[in-house]
Amino acid sequence: MKSTTRSLRALKGVRPIVCLTAYDVSTARIADAGGADLILVGDSLGNVVLGLPDTVGVTLDMMIHHSAAVVRAQTEALVVGDLPFGLAHDSFPKLLGYCRRFLQEGGVKAVKIEGGASLAPAIARLVDAGIPVMGHVGMLPQRVHSAGYRRRGLTSEDQKKILIDAQAVAAAGAFAMVVECVDETFMPKITEAVSVPTIGIGSGRGCDGQILVLEDMLGLNPRPPKFVKVYGQLGDRIEAAVRSYSEEVRRR
Ligand code: KIV
Repeated sequence: MKSTTRSLRALKGVRPIVCLTAYDVSTARIADAGGADLILVGDSLGNVVLGLPDTVGVTLDMMIHHSAAVVRAQTEALVVGDLPFGLAHDSFPKLLGYCRRFLQEGGVKAVKIEGGASLAPAIARLVDAGIPVMGHVGMLPQRVHSAGYRRRGLTSEDQKKILIDAQAVAAAGAFAMVVECVDETFMPKITEAVSVPTIGIGSGRGCDGQILVLEDMLGLNPRPPKFVKVYGQLGDRIEAAVRSYSEEVRRR
């Protein structure tokens, strides 16, 4: 059955939500066939596919190009596009224009926005304009140059900030939110404090769902983040297949 923002939201407290990233039609088909409820066209596109050092260099045009490819897989999973660095902080008419392009040209059904309480008014206006929004709190990879890749929620002061962010994003109308690299003993408190599903990455079990970068969990990234469980060493298997091909071609 096709996932929608409403069907996913309704899964809170019913069963865990399965989310994966994809950046093209073939990986989107695999994620969908494997049981994902939600496919995120993440701006991790930058690191994973484009060889960039981080997500800061990813543009809206890049995201739209890859989102359109993922959408062509016609998945049952809901396809969500990641709004690139800085755009959520633009004026509201510009932000609405970026999101409109994402939905109309990229074909995604919702937009993910990194940021907390300071972006809640913009999220509320987008939701009011008919743009479904997925939040993203905790560690924010787009802030690598200002805050680094720092695990969050290790002090009570930081925990308070994260709770304020999560509650503001939920109150603004986000249908779900990613919670990245938050201390796993604190994570259940966030899940309890918000009425929408929390989708964890590197935040332990106390979430309403989990998301991983597909290439990381398939063993295609030689240096995945420490928290990633690798479910298959496909990098080695693909290399072995290519080696067999090379040998056969060379033997004519
Ligand atoms: O860009 C991305 O892939 C993400 C997820 C891993 C949450 O934001």
